[in-house]
Amino acid sequence: MNRENIAVNDEELKKQLVTIDNLRYELKGKELFYYIETFGCLMNEKDSEKLSGVLREIGYVETQSIKQADFILYNTCCIRDNAERKIYGRVGNIKGLKQKKPDLIVSICGCMMQQEHVLEKLQKKYKREVDIIFGTHNIYKLAELLSTRMEVGHQIIDIWREHKDIVEDLPSVRKYKHKAAVNIMYGCDNFCSYCVVPYVRGRERSRDSGSIIQEIKDLVNDGVKEVMLLGQNVNSYGKGLSEDITFAKLLREVNKIEGLKRIRYMTSHPKDFTDEVIYAIRDCEKVCNYVHLPIQSGSTKVLEEMNRKYTKDHYLNLAEKIKKEIDGVAITTDIIVGFPCETEEDFLETLDVIRKVGYDSAFTYIYSKRTGTKAATMGGEVSAEVINERFNRLILETDKIQKENNAKRNGITYKVLVEELSKSDSKLLTGRTEQNILVHFEGDESLIGELVDVEIFETKGHYLNGKLKTES
Ligand code: 5AD
Ligand code: SF4
Repeated sequence: MNRENIAVNDEELKKQLVTIDNLRYELKGKELFYYIETFGCLMNEKDSEKLSGVLREIGYVETQSIKQADFILYNTCCIRDNAERKIYGRVGNIKGLKQKKPDLIVSICGCMMQQEHVLEKLQKKYKREVDIIFGTHNIYKLAELLSTRMEVGHQIIDIWREHKDIVEDLPSVRKYKHKAAVNIMYGCDNFCSYCVVPYVRGRERSRDSGSIIQEIKDLVNDGVKEVMLLGQNVNSYGKGLSEDITFAKLLREVNKIEGLKRIRYMTSHPKDFTDEVIYAIRDCEKVCNYVHLPIQSGSTKVLEEMNRKYTKDHYLNLAEKIKKEIDGVAITTDIIVGFPCETEEDFLETLDVIRKVGYDSAFTYIYSKRTGTKAATMGGEVSAEVINERFNRLILETDKIQKENNAKRNGITYKVLVEELSKSDSKLLTGRTEQNILVHFEGDESLIGELVDVEIFETKGHYLNGKLKTES
């Protein structure tokens, strides 16, 4: 595969910054609010932080009330059918909002917009409702698109089939003060047969390590303790770059950053999970002992049909090695039920892997047919009834194992990064262990963002209750 060495485009960056300045000047004195809703994965969350940064810089203030908004932005996901249906639901409601507020500007962006059939529908049915449509490759152009829309006064669409430049360093806002996500690569080249991501996020491309390290150093200076290194397949980080770098080497470099406390990453592909990566996780004290390792199916036959490029045995050996080398590691996974032609025997293989690996948590999905993917034309659909029955059995099994694993955590003291006040009880704080397990405990709000020791006294299915020991 021919991969370009991607450079950050300074010209584009300058152009956007000038447009932001101009818009700020034009809109000065107006009280303007934006409402943003993000669907889908961490990659989209990260994009929304960048989009919010631009809007704030222009002068918009975020609102949680859609009625108050002068600018509405939906950052969409199309990984499964239900994510898409939600968006059409939102667009359907816009007409009423626009009648009440004719100056309202509505914009939709993200993965769903990269699909031809979606664009056609939005162009035909929602010409008046949706003002700005853009995709995944040009989110940095938001200010320019907004400025053009204000000039021309009708729907504008800007979708790129492929990426052109990586433009970083635009203003961005962070949801949390103490943790941040950092893109280390974009796109995906794996073409798992069920997955639409390679079609909507484009070819895989890595950022050079120098700019990643610099971004993390800046974040640490700004109070960040934990970073999440983001990519669709982080284990193949570095391919196509002119520098001599791999994901394992990157982890070791990030680990050296002073003041940084924790390093996470998402997502790993089992086919590229080398020993070098396992040893880096083991050796680097800041890299969390937590591995998200999507299996998708336990059946080697189904894995082949999925184009996952590993077998059940390879996966089980890998999980064993990870457990052996990384002390106290938690392993989580993604599982799809009802892939075309999945038989009861195939499903039993999946249950077998679940029991053998003993996942600390599993994200379980019902297969959703995606236009344009190979699996969409495979035939052999599994009936909804069979899928639901398997799905329920799957959840029973994964929940049971998660509960058993958590029960073993009673009496153990964990380092917890305090994230926020508990949503259900404001006397309680909520944080996460290195293994990404939620812990609730009594403590003062001032501890938010700190790493503290918490001793577990009660274990539940999906979380732990503990008592604060000492600050560290
Ligand atoms: N149907 C169901 N689940 C899917 N995923 C990706 N594509 C599909 C699909 N078409 C799941 C995979 C992936 C996770 C992010 O979403 O399990 O790991
Ligand atoms: Fe989709 Fe597979 Fe790429 Fe993950 S690795 S984004 S499942 S194609």
